[in-house]
Amino acid sequence: MQNVDEDTITQIVLARHANAANPRLKQIITSVVQYLHGFARDIQLSEEEWFQGIQFLTEVGHITDDKRQEFILLSDTLGLSMLVTALNNRKPRGCTESTVFGPFFVEGAPVYENGADVGNGAKGEQCFVTGRVTGLHGEPVPDARVDVWQADSDGFYDVQYEDTERAYGRGTLRTLPDGTFNFRSITAESYPIPHDGPVGRMLTALGRHPWRPAHLHFMIDAPGYERLITHVFRSGDEYLDSDAVFGVRSSLIANWERHKAGTAPDGTVLDGPFGTLDFTFVLNRIDPGSGRIK
Ligand code: BEZ
Ligand code: FE
Repeated sequence: MQNVDEDTITQIVLARHANAANPRLKQIITSVVQYLHGFARDIQLSEEEWFQGIQFLTEVGHITDDKRQEFILLSDTLGLSMLVTALNNRKPRGCTESTVFGPFFVEGAPVYENGADVGNGAKGEQCFVTGRVTGLHGEPVPDARVDVWQADSDGFYDVQYEDTERAYGRGTLRTLPDGTFNFRSITAESYPIPHDGPVGRMLTALGRHPWRPAHLHFMIDAPGYERLITHVFRSGDEYLDSDAVFGVRSSLIANWERHKAGTAPDGTVLDGPFGTLDFTFVLNRIDPGSGRIK
């Protein structure tokens, strides 16, 4: 095909994919091409602007490695991650809502017994977390796998430190026969997402801040139930209404109680204040007819 012009190019590109073997791939690329061409026409994209766009995406790629995932930050800050989460996690009222996964989950975190110190030396005020995993009708879910991960009080996840391979503030536990679990860690604080790269510069250019409200991450798996990926947010946080990645659901905000120095729930005597948090996670049963495997 020759003499392709601005009116014919979209259909001509799409026709070139007529023999794509995978129908879903074909559908995805068709839509991407249509939206990209529509976007360029809509804003009358200049050559200079598109070159800047390519430079920006190149920087996003260059800063990305196995510890820094700038593409996830881009997806998160543009609201795409939360949109995909919402589209894929519609559940009955009463189930715990899902939110963004984020870039800081690590496979193979330490396995802990209930009551253990998942903080494992992370910097911050001590916090004692109790949780319960149930089905929609309140039935306890025993032996569910509970993954938890969080930043320290300086706002960094363990994997962001160059000088250590030690896992702080992350671990895997199992629920007890009554569906409960408990662990010690540190109190979550609000923190900025990594903003020393192209996504941070984009936020600044858009007049946005990079902060996330204080939260704990949870991923819960149990046979017969859908995987739950969520956070518990700390009530009163100043960023609850302006989360940089749009992840806050009001149903996920909990009261982190603060206590004076003294005897903690596990019997240890602490010489500084400490927090407690209790939260119930309600899982959605996998509908056997849905064919959905999670
Ligand atoms: C997080 O909560 O860990 C996170 C989520 C999105 C982007 C950056 C961090
Ligand atoms: Fe986080």
